[in-house]
Amino acid sequence: MSLPPALEEHVSLAAMNSLAVPASARWFAEVTSGQELESLLEVAEQRDLATLILGGGSNLVFAGDFDGLVLHMGITGRCWEHVDGDSAILVLGAGENWHESVLYAASAGYRGIENLALIPGTVGAAPVQNIGAYGVELKDTLVSVTALDRKTGEWVVLANEDCGFGYRDSLFKHQPGRYVITELRLRLCRSRELTLGYADLANYFDGAGTSNLKALDVAQAVMAVRRRKLPDPEQIPNAGSFFKNPIVDRKVWGELKLAYPDMPGYPGNGTAKLAAAWLIDQCGWKGFRNDRVGVHNRQALVLINHSGGSGSDVLALAERIRQDVLARFGVALEMEPGVIPPDRALGR
Ligand code: EPU
Repeated sequence: MSLPPALEEHVSLAAMNSLAVPASARWFAEVTSGQELESLLEVAEQRDLATLILGGGSNLVFAGDFDGLVLHMGITGRCWEHVDGDSAILVLGAGENWHESVLYAASAGYRGIENLALIPGTVGAAPVQNIGAYGVELKDTLVSVTALDRKTGEWVVLANEDCGFGYRDSLFKHQPGRYVITELRLRLCRSRELTLGYADLANYFDGAGTSNLKALDVAQAVMAVRRRKLPDPEQIPNAGSFFKNPIVDRKVWGELKLAYPDMPGYPGNGTAKLAAAWLIDQCGWKGFRNDRVGVHNRQALVLINHSGGSGSDVLALAERIRQDVLARFGVALEMEPGVIPPDRALGR
């Protein structure tokens, strides 16, 4: 086995998390290949260091420093496999930027992930929360995930059905730390039907013909819609939706709808998905800010680090919001980003 890359000590993570909260890694290394990953994990084991795999840092909150080894995922690579005219498999390294990969696929005329444009973060993080937007989820095109299984020490290829995908959910969330994802395979198709039904997207194209749209047109529409509503983490530090849309029993949905006829919701099989943004908005939090952190003024689901806020500031605000929504609607919001260290997560 080749020598592992040298570890850096006491590295600031402030520029590596999209909330831009201060935190540092006791040890840090960039991983650029599967072999490097194996040797760095071996070093961590020998030195008894906790490890954290960091992608774009766009879906986590550092509540403190990380007293272990942070491995920054830098395995790149994009290539097409099995191109048969109409469909193709896109192979992406885990360290690739997700949005650039969407544009890469859409520019080549392949459909399937164009609705997921502008989602921040890296490719390797996408399956963990099964990223989704505008009626499309990653699971709709994902063929398989290549990962190092730290429990067995073996490389595995997990097929879509092995990944336990659900709304903002996957096997990787339930077995944190077990799998280090290094590559994804997506099945994309030139003739696939475009998904244009989501209200914001339908409104965007309202009146314009949609029959000649290309994947890239849809990606650009999604970018315009997102830019109107969601803050750019480069300018206003945030971690996207801070809470999941809660899923409640149909009976609870019926009762809520009776009490709040305007409440948006998406009834499904025995359950209904509520709009967390609406619940938060109704509690008056939209646009709230203190001297450091706040709630975005166009999307109540997005918490913002306005000026020098810490992870604890963000979590304290999130907890106040969660308590308000619980008191008013009886609905417990669940956080979407992960918390490092995990024992600082809400409700623990
Ligand atoms: N709403 C409000 N107040 C607000 C924002 C929204 O009342 O401040 C209402 C809207 O009027 C609408 C409902 O809430 O009736 C849902 O809002 P929206 O369509 O904006 O979507 P969302 O459910 O809040 C989800 C995803 C987003 C994704 C959009 C579009 C989750 C947790 N969030 O938001 O994902 O972009 O749908 O598909 O599922 C992300 O994960 O970071 C993210 C931005």
